[in-house]
Amino acid sequence: VYKNLFQVPLPIPPNKEPLRTITSNGTQFDYYEVEIRSLEQQVYPGLSKAELIGYDGVAPGPTFHMTKGRQAVVRFINHGTQANSVHLHGSYSRAPFDGWAEDTTEPGQYKDYFYPNGQNARTLWYHDHAIDHTAHNAYFGQAGLYILHDPDELATPGLPQGDDDVGLVLASKRYNSDGTLWDPDTNGEVTSLWGDVIHVNGQPWPYLDVEPRKYRFRFLDASVSRSFQIYLVADQQDTVRLPFTVVGADTGLLEKPVSTSQLDISMAERWEVVVDFSSYAGQNLTFKNNRNVGADQDYVDTDKIIRFVVSSTTTGPARRWDSESLPTKLRTVPYPPPAKSATQVDRSFTFGRSGSGGWTINGVTWAIGPDARVLAKPQRGNVEVWELVDGGGGWSHPIHIHLIISRKGGARNAVLPYEQVALKDVVWLNTGETVRVIARFAPWDGLYMFHCHNLIHEDHAMMAAFNVTALTD
Ligand code: C2O
Ligand code: CU
Repeated sequence: VYKNLFQVPLPIPPNKEPLRTITSNGTQFDYYEVEIRSLEQQVYPGLSKAELIGYDGVAPGPTFHMTKGRQAVVRFINHGTQANSVHLHGSYSRAPFDGWAEDTTEPGQYKDYFYPNGQNARTLWYHDHAIDHTAHNAYFGQAGLYILHDPDELATPGLPQGDDDVGLVLASKRYNSDGTLWDPDTNGEVTSLWGDVIHVNGQPWPYLDVEPRKYRFRFLDASVSRSFQIYLVADQQDTVRLPFTVVGADTGLLEKPVSTSQLDISMAERWEVVVDFSSYAGQNLTFKNNRNVGADQDYVDTDKIIRFVVSSTTTGPARRWDSESLPTKLRTVPYPPPAKSATQVDRSFTFGRSGSGGWTINGVTWAIGPDARVLAKPQRGNVEVWELVDGGGGWSHPIHIHLIISRKGGARNAVLPYEQVALKDVVWLNTGETVRVIARFAPWDGLYMFHCHNLIHEDHAMMAAFNVTALTD
């Protein structure tokens, strides 16, 4: 059992800088290189170190800060031991740069990925997507934040920026008794990897020193299988759930800020929140996690995430956002038009399990082969309603549809208040739920993946493809 809860400060991954700017045919690209290499992490004092493989040898990888309109080329050089494929989750990348599972780069090779950075400000993340080994590779360190900024977002009143804008990458992991990381591949795990150790930015149960003022936190759940229902308490009175404000989702700012006392986040989802510590000077506050979330298995400390140690006074120059309130409208969210009737379903997909134990989408697995796994051919530019159905058995499946962004609605289960004003690229299909999403299939033609983001399910073939095409289906 890990004993040093809230003893180690939250690590902040380094910012990634471009090596140079390239001009090609009159267009400028920022050029980056990332080396995939091993690192060691001492998690349990006195035991062996865990051997990880991370981007630039850190885990999570370095954080990219991109500006809307500045295109980028990132060379990922594989110095690891396994083939990899890099997916920039949340980007409308062209299909050849989207991290297709079988487009793998072998050890000793590299691939250059082109990222258009044409979308509005949002929290993206880059992670491994290699066929059959995504869980292993992402879990052993190949995951990092990629933050896209735009002038409107940076100018938003009351929205903390810079050092007061902190990424919190959650991951739940499991260790062997010798201190090394438990490997889902060599242990033949086929259902889920819950893990008993909650990490934030790679560190089990860290703390963060904050001042009594406003901060913005960008949550990403990079766990293989664990979802969270996050709430905030002051340690002195930990039965009272404190309010905080949800301001952003997978695809950037919400239409308006929404106050909440609980934030639901499943694998690959991102939510941005603003926490105002100004009335908690000198206190400790903790983000905690509900018990019995989704299908998850709990352990002694999986109800705790990160502690904030609030200083008694503020230091340094005043921050603009501390004297401002968030606007009632954060931005005009481009919801997929037109709003189709709530009863219209263009396609329905059931996420289930076959008799032999494999994970399936409408009975199909990725392994069925290149033609049979293409389950939809949406016409480019069309708006479609997809119904996502949990096939039963007591599992929960966060569903990621590459390329597109969608709005949740018309679900059998309640849409949470902050979800009603959010655009998403992952929707959490919880146990027993049916969820409908509406999306415009654009801007590019091409073959893209959709899958469960429980990475064990994904690796065991709960993944299929759709082909966006100018032709009619
Ligand atoms: Cu975050 Cu297909 O992945
Ligand atoms: Cu699943």
